[in-house]
Amino acid sequence: MAVNLKGRSFLTLMDFTPSEIRYMLDLAHDLKAKKRAGIVNHVLRGKTIVLLFEKGSTRTRCAFEVAAMEEGAGVTFLDSGSSQMGKKESLEDTAKVLGRFYDGIEYRGFDQKVVEDLAKFSGVPVWNGLTDVDHPTQILADLLTIEEHCAKPLNQVKVVFCGDIRNNMSYAWMYGCAKMGMHFVAYGPEELKVDENILAAAREVAKETGATIEVCHDASCLKDADVLYTDVWASMGEEDKIPERVRMLTPYKVTMDMIKETENPDVLFLHCLPSFHDFETTMAKTQKEKGYDIREVTDEVFRSKHSVVFDEAENRMHTIKAVIVATI
Ligand code: CP
Ligand code: NVA
Repeated sequence: MAVNLKGRSFLTLMDFTPSEIRYMLDLAHDLKAKKRAGIVNHVLRGKTIVLLFEKGSTRTRCAFEVAAMEEGAGVTFLDSGSSQMGKKESLEDTAKVLGRFYDGIEYRGFDQKVVEDLAKFSGVPVWNGLTDVDHPTQILADLLTIEEHCAKPLNQVKVVFCGDIRNNMSYAWMYGCAKMGMHFVAYGPEELKVDENILAAAREVAKETGATIEVCHDASCLKDADVLYTDVWASMGEEDKIPERVRMLTPYKVTMDMIKETENPDVLFLHCLPSFHDFETTMAKTQKEKGYDIREVTDEVFRSKHSVVFDEAENRMHTIKAVIVATI
């Protein structure tokens, strides 16, 4: 059956069928190839989109801006300090106003309910650019990157997510792997409790797609991994948790020994970025001075032949372009 995503919001991969996700990935592969070949179609000429950011961003903001501009759309960027949203105007009223001006709305912030309400009240497609519990555009980029670098089809790929197994990236991966029939392992400490509802929802989908969704606390799960994935140990808004996370997550830092434990010479290392892999950032330096080594991956792994993190970062743009083009 033909896939038509016009008018749809992109709030979580759980709202899409495997064929619809396949469609967005194929479109992203195609748009990437066209860009490389210098083919410009400007399919969004005459359209305008607005980007709402209540948390910081490099990749997501730039990916939305470049994707829209390359296809001929106009873009407005609003951060939390420069709009009335939530302060002098309710979310509902803001959504209704933005829906009159724009053809699509991107939102990055805290509560998943905000993207849901923006979609409910605006009447235009809303795209989730990261919330506390999901980061679906990142997963599309990650899947595209895996397809480019791994010879296996997605439904034969094993992804081990190491570290903060209860964060937005781990949950987004559970959903993505469940939908695409993949093997996902959340590998982290027992102390960090994975949300039982999210796990159950992913496992329910897995029953239909043949996926395996596991939570594991010992290193035996690394064997035969095709992808090792990690993320920062304290997500945006959780900086006060750094001391306890360093204590809990240091054994889950991605190292060359961990790469060897996969027994897969071609294992890929992926990371959504930004990453602490050295002490070249003010945060890593400041925390080091306080006695905390917040690096979730060693510099050796980050710069190794296994690492495809910059291809992955580039793919944010191609996949976000696919989402915008498909939905408006
Ligand atoms: N991976 C990602 O979402 O990066 P930014 O925070 O820079 O947008
Ligand atoms: N878990 C991270 C992802 C950043 C892209 C955060 O929310 O800060």
